[in-house]
This record gives sequence, structure tokens and C-alpha cells, in this order.
Amino acid sequence: MTQQDRASWLPSALALLLLWAPGSWSLSGPRTVTGTVGGSLSVQCQYEEEFTGHVKYWYSDLHKKIVETTKSKREVRRGRVSIRDDPANLTFTVTLDSLTEEDDGTYMCGIDKWGPDPTFQVKVSVFP
Ligand SMILES: *[C@@H]1O[C@H](CO)[C@@H](O)[C@H](O)[C@H]1NC(C)=O
Repeated sequence: MTQQDRASWLPSALALLLLWAPGSWSLSGPRTVTGTVGGSLSVQCQYEEEFTGHVKYWYSDLHKKIVETTKSKREVRRGRVSIRDDPANLTFTVTLDSLTEEDDGTYMCGIDKWGPDPTFQVKVSVFP
């Protein structure tokens, strides 16, 4: 392989890698968040500009989609949990109020899209 071959091979390999790993760079946030019983905590997840108009959600295996935004509502509350999408800075924020020890667990930020949704796993720890 000459230097020139290598130069043209690399971009197509990168493109292939991007196709193979959908969503892996589309969404990020904190790996862990902590709070105390009775208190509250917030999780901010960052997304890419292409997802500005998409529905954002907060998910757990146990409760499935806990809260989600809608096309027309960027802020939605459900009980002690709320979600707010701020497209101006490509962030959505999930807030858990009146924390209990049962809130301790693994959750995900997610974005609704056609095909596999971009998700980001967040570990929530609640201390007494
Ligand atoms: C994004 O904007 C909202 C509303 O102004 C703010 O509350 C939030 O902290 C901002 N997030 C980041 C990461 O800048």
C-alpha cells in the first residue's frame, strides 16, 4: 500500500465505522449521579444538532419510558420526575425530586429516532 492508497483508504474506513456504530457519539451525559433520600438530582444529557426536533426520554428497564418530551412540549413532568429539552444548548435535563432509596438504579437518556435509538446509560445512586 502506498502512502496515497493509505490516505484514500482511511476516510472510507472511518465512514464504515460510523455506519456500524449508530448513535454511539450522538448522546452523552454523566456516567453516575448521586443524591440523598428526600433531596433531588438532575441529569443533563447532550445530543447532536440533528436531534433537535426529536422526542427525548428517560428510561429504566423496570419502568420503561418514565418521562418523555413530545413534539409540542419540551417540558414534561410526571410525578417526581421531570424532563426539559433545551435545544438552544443541545441539552436535555431530567430532574428527580423527593428521592427515595428505590430510585437507586440504572437509567438511560434516550432519543426517539427511526432505527436504533441513541441512548446513554446513567447510574443513579441514592444515599440515606
Ligand atoms: C442549557 O440551558 C438551560 C436553560 O438555559 C440551562 O438550565 C442548562 O444548565 C444549560 N445546560 C448546559 C450544559 O449549558
